[in-house]
Amino acid sequence: MSNSAPTPTTMKAWLYNSASGDLSKNLYLDTSARTPPSPAPHEIYVQVLTASLNPADYKVPTWVFGIAAQIVIGLPASPGMDFCGRILATGSQVTQFSPGQLVFGCHSRPMKYGSLAEYLSISADLVAAVPEGVSPESAGAIGIAGQSAYQSLNGYVKEGDKVLIVGGSGGCGLFAIQIAKALGCHVTTTCSTRNVELCRSLGADEVIDYTAVDDIAGTLREQGVVFDHIVDHVGLPKDLYYHCHHFLKEDGVFLQIGALSKSIYPGRIGWPSILGGGRRKFRLFFFANTQAHVAVIGEMLLKGTLKVHVDSEYEFENAIKAFDRLASDRTRGKVLIRVAKE
Ligand SMILES: NC(=O)c1ccc[n+]([C@@H]2O[C@H](COP(=O)([O-])OP(=O)(O)OC[C@H]3O[C@@H](n4cnc5c(N)ncnc54)[C@H](OP(=O)(O)O)[C@@H]3O)[C@@H](O)[C@H]2O)c1
Repeated sequence: MSNSAPTPTTMKAWLYNSASGDLSKNLYLDTSARTPPSPAPHEIYVQVLTASLNPADYKVPTWVFGIAAQIVIGLPASPGMDFCGRILATGSQVTQFSPGQLVFGCHSRPMKYGSLAEYLSISADLVAAVPEGVSPESAGAIGIAGQSAYQSLNGYVKEGDKVLIVGGSGGCGLFAIQIAKALGCHVTTTCSTRNVELCRSLGADEVIDYTAVDDIAGTLREQGVVFDHIVDHVGLPKDLYYHCHHFLKEDGVFLQIGALSKSIYPGRIGWPSILGGGRRKFRLFFFANTQAHVAVIGEMLLKGTLKVHVDSEYEFENAIKAFDRLASDRTRGKVLIRVAKE
């Protein structure tokens, strides 16, 4: 460490030793867990203040019956990727940040030292400074969902485009609605009845209540071939991609961010249009952790063009409840955890 404050050797951390089955059932709170090693030359050492959860936090470690977690992450591990925290120390090559600064961002994948712990270290080129005036709660909720929303639209759309956001009320969806509006698009989104007003209040021009409409593809078809871009967070209804040439323009992209069921992927990816599959460009989305995008989103928070809608907030000790809430698939915006108070 070139620039260091004294760092403790133990910390409070949520850990899992096994990732087979339901991750939240494997979690335990260790009050004397080992702290991360001193930061490598390109890393910063951060005291975590807030963290937010993403479906990948509980989905990825369980891949291949939890074997992936053992090999790639290394157990025991702390879950959590998104965070906002204060820098305690910097590696010898870090010139962009100094101890004391408030930063935010996320790990690129589940790591051994995740954000549901008092301390983590991360490459300095993955985080951005929290703009003065933006709260640690808002900044800690951005990481993966904020960047995914930004990357699913930026570069795909231009001012005046019509965008369909399937699943507008979740962690990614509420950011996507607002970012699409900030980019000058007309936004149509889908959600259930209880979230219609929320989606509207954050900027959606048209909201389709999927619980009140039997045939979503048919409803969209009635509008004609008007959409320039489709962002799908849920993969439902299953036949949406198959029918999308009736409402997505010829050069438009159907971008699949995630899905409630893995079973939608083979039909959408593997079924060629010549054999009756979808007839528009289909792309699977993979978020790319990018410092510049974290910084852009920080500026949007500061200007107020992007707001964080918090579904629910939990004290650190109640992290399991936070995971259970997220796994309900009914969250509206972000699930936030207060890791430490300053
Ligand atoms: N590929 C990547 O790099 C990447 C990055 C980020 C996220 N993802 C994936 O993207 C997906 C969304 O992530 P998230 O963080 O937004 O999840 P989330 O916050 O858990 O999403 C919950 C939302 O889904 C909505 N929903 C459920 N069923 C729906 C339906 N049939 N139609 C419309 N909306 C529905 C719910 O709204 P209602 O209660 O109103 O139904 C709820 O608001 C996840 O699968 C995640 O793993 C992938």
